[in-house]
Amino acid sequence: MPQDSTALRLDGQGKPLWLALELTYRCPLKCSWCSNPLDFDDYAERELSTEEWCRVMREARALGALQIGFTGGEPLQRRDLEQLVAYAEQIGLYTNLITSGVGLTDERLLGLKQAGLRQIQLSMQSTDAAMTDELVGAKAHQLKLDAARRIKEHGLPMVLNMPVGRQNIGQVGAMIEYAAELGAEYLELANLQYYNWALINRDELMPTLAALREAETVVQQWREKLGKRMAIYYVIPDYYEGRPKACMNGWGAIHLTIAPDGVAMPCQESRSVPGLDFVSVREQPLDWIWNESPLFRKYRGLDWLPEPCRSCDEREKDFGGCRCQAFLLTGDAANTDPACDRSPHHHLMQAAVHSATKPLRFRKPLVKRVAGVMSTAFMED
Ligand code: SF4
Ligand code: FES
Repeated sequence: MPQDSTALRLDGQGKPLWLALELTYRCPLKCSWCSNPLDFDDYAERELSTEEWCRVMREARALGALQIGFTGGEPLQRRDLEQLVAYAEQIGLYTNLITSGVGLTDERLLGLKQAGLRQIQLSMQSTDAAMTDELVGAKAHQLKLDAARRIKEHGLPMVLNMPVGRQNIGQVGAMIEYAAELGAEYLELANLQYYNWALINRDELMPTLAALREAETVVQQWREKLGKRMAIYYVIPDYYEGRPKACMNGWGAIHLTIAPDGVAMPCQESRSVPGLDFVSVREQPLDWIWNESPLFRKYRGLDWLPEPCRSCDEREKDFGGCRCQAFLLTGDAANTDPACDRSPHHHLMQAAVHSATKPLRFRKPLVKRVAGVMSTAFMED
């Protein structure tokens, strides 16, 4: 049966329209909200080769992928990034680079532009140098400003992405002003999502509802002032909204992430859910992984939904929320996302919101293993 290439399918026969390649987890920064796994330093030896990444892109394109995001870690750590971008363009994928800007020299930017790169998403934490450097655990602010200026000079479309947490939420207005002066096409004020590093720092990173509402007012004032000059994305996060996000537009619906070691995932965080059967593109063709693998079929569509989602009139809006958040807070990924106030576990989300503050724990390599059990560096801080 012919399929509409853009429609969201809930029957497991959709296409992986949005492909994210996590080229590496290596990164010069130490952000305390990093979405990479806690054991990120175990992956460096197992990264896919240039040829393997090209095969993944080819197979994804054949499955219907249209957009590709090169992400990490810091994708600029891969010396073959330009080659990968050129190949993606050659086979008809719309290319995005998701970067901290550290390492984005003139030479590399030129190389990426010549390779056909379509868009850059640059992360900035603050307009204040001391705050940025403190938040990312490195002297990065000036490098980011230089990168932003260069991207504009080279005429590449730019999305500025500001990860927003308690520490920098008061900077939202200053960031909008900076982005508008720079000529960014789009500013994403991305309220943090609490997985991996952000989850262990949640008590310290989560802003208050009052701060989120205040930022919302500032955003609204700037939207009115700027009109169509720059699009500003900002939404109050689900833990304050009583309804979950439609995470990934549904599990295995349109999104496919490939980890540095080739493991295919329905979302960046799914490896934090135990008991799922992950398969690498080194072991199976992508077609089988996407269409047939137990992992991608497990929470696809609506048939698997538990109560209260199963009989809820909003199930086609949010598909029961986020599987990873359901696991991380309730211990079972098949539960209704506790961000929903209809979930019997909603009190867990409310408790998280009211938790006390703790010091930030920066992303850094795990330091030792005790009797085969991982002991993480942050536990010793
Ligand atoms: Fe969404 Fe389930 Fe909550 Fe209904 S009960 S709003 S489907 S998460
Ligand atoms: Fe994994 Fe939401 S982050 S399903």
